[in-house]
Amino acid sequence: MDIAFLLNGETVNLRGVDPTTTVLDWLRETRGLTGTKEGCNEGDCGACTVMVTDHSGTHPLNGCILFLPQINGKALTTVEGLASPEGDLHPVQSAMVDHHGSQCGFCTPGFVVSLAAGQISGEKDHDLQLAGNLCRCTGYAPIVRAAANAARHPVPKWLRALPEGPEMGPAVNDFQPTSTEALADLLTAHPDATLVAGATDVGLWVNKSMRDLGTVIFLNRIREMQRIEIAPYMIRIGAVATVEALRLAMQKHHPHFAAMLDRFASAQVRAAATVGGNIANGSPIGDTPPPLIALGAMVQLRKGDNTREIPLEDFFIDYGKQDRDTGEFVEAVVIPRDNSPDRLKVYKLSKRFDQDISAVLGAFNITLANDKVTSARIAFGGMAGTPMRAAAVEAALIGKPWTRDTIRKAKWSFAEDFKPMTDMRASSGYRLEAAANMLERYWLEDQDMSTDVREVAL
Ligand SMILES: Cc1cc2nc3c(=O)[nH]c(=O)nc-3n(C[C@H](O)[C@H](O)[C@H](O)COP(=O)(O)OP(=O)(O)OC[C@H]3O[C@@H](n4cnc5c(N)ncnc54)[C@H](O)[C@@H]3O)c2cc1C
Ligand code: FES
Ligand code: FES
Repeated sequence: MDIAFLLNGETVNLRGVDPTTTVLDWLRETRGLTGTKEGCNEGDCGACTVMVTDHSGTHPLNGCILFLPQINGKALTTVEGLASPEGDLHPVQSAMVDHHGSQCGFCTPGFVVSLAAGQISGEKDHDLQLAGNLCRCTGYAPIVRAAANAARHPVPKWLRALPEGPEMGPAVNDFQPTSTEALADLLTAHPDATLVAGATDVGLWVNKSMRDLGTVIFLNRIREMQRIEIAPYMIRIGAVATVEALRLAMQKHHPHFAAMLDRFASAQVRAAATVGGNIANGSPIGDTPPPLIALGAMVQLRKGDNTREIPLEDFFIDYGKQDRDTGEFVEAVVIPRDNSPDRLKVYKLSKRFDQDISAVLGAFNITLANDKVTSARIAFGGMAGTPMRAAAVEAALIGKPWTRDTIRKAKWSFAEDFKPMTDMRASSGYRLEAAANMLERYWLEDQDMSTDVREVAL
């Protein structure tokens, strides 16, 4: 494939690149820019963080799971591009020196690039910004002190107006369509091609499983599929909208969903991962399907000129099996707007608070009238081979008074709905008990009783 992009302000044109070459490998091995480090090579440590600017803004991304075609037409800034052309350090770099935020220095470029990207996007929460950067020697206090100090400085003038990409724009590739129509035609012609959206799953197939992807179609240039439309009766989320874009949109419409998404991976992964990828991968522990199901979302699928729409819960048939035909793709997810914004609560349980996959994730959307339950949509991840509704629990609630007694009885119904597995994240019994306790938590919070588990844990 051919690509054109800006590297630290300079135009780069590459012809005939292998579509699964990562930005990290190219930077280090071809370009000799070794400031960007390889730690885990799977999106977990942030040592490889680079900054990418496009029409949607400036984002930190993990270079180890970012394929070169994904930066076609964009601007890439590495740690080598943060200082001014005259050699003045970026305020984040100076603050890291002043606050002793670096020891062996291996993680430091990643931290510095993450913070520089956060400064441009205006992120004030340093913990949120840095959840995807790991340091094995300094400890985080000096780094967070450096971050707080650097945040008092404006974005340096040499980074203030980063161009979005090279003047002549992106290179044109047959396998990088720019419209939904073109994608539909291409996938009809190549039904066995691998679709790559954010590559936060696919990147690992290449780096860790050494899989040959065969024909690859990149979705990242289809702007119409990146859109999140807020209409009077529905919210339509294009399949290529990133999880970060969804998080920002949900802050207004379903704030508890947004707060859970703060804990979806890290800033770097959220800026790449797409909503469509989180659904299409069929994972039983993906974080967006349960809340979307609890909100009554429909998934729109397209094959050639034919589109169809089904309830999202029906998309997941069995472990590893989805209702998606060969040559069909996820086009969008649609959430009806008849949900009261505050009734949806989402609880994520994982071994680590930040940057961890869920052991159990419960989403509750329960409505009341005259202190009786009028409707209940409850969905879980991590409790079965697919994301799944808790039908027996819902039935045990609907029509009943909204009391502790009803909750206690309904908790018994979890065993009817789920027979969860035991794995490295949690045992079956623990999952069942934790899921039932989430219902009680929902009820307690509804009575204004605090259950802030993180505060208690600290
Ligand atoms: C470090 C790390 C942390 C993570 N943490 C979390 C977490 O906390 N919660 C969580 O839920 N997930 C997590 N993930 C998993 C991953 O980020 C998500 O599943 C993500 O949403 C996948 O989206 P993507 O765009 O990157 O998909 P890709 O990797 O591009 O694709 C994934 C699969 O979906 C297919 N696909 C993509 N888009 C479409 C489409 N529109 N139509 C049909 N098929 C499509 C691809 O062909 C592929 O089979 C994590 C991953 C990493 C690396
Ligand atoms: S090398 Fe660890 S996130 Fe990329
Ligand atoms: S300074 Fe050594 S890993 Fe962070």
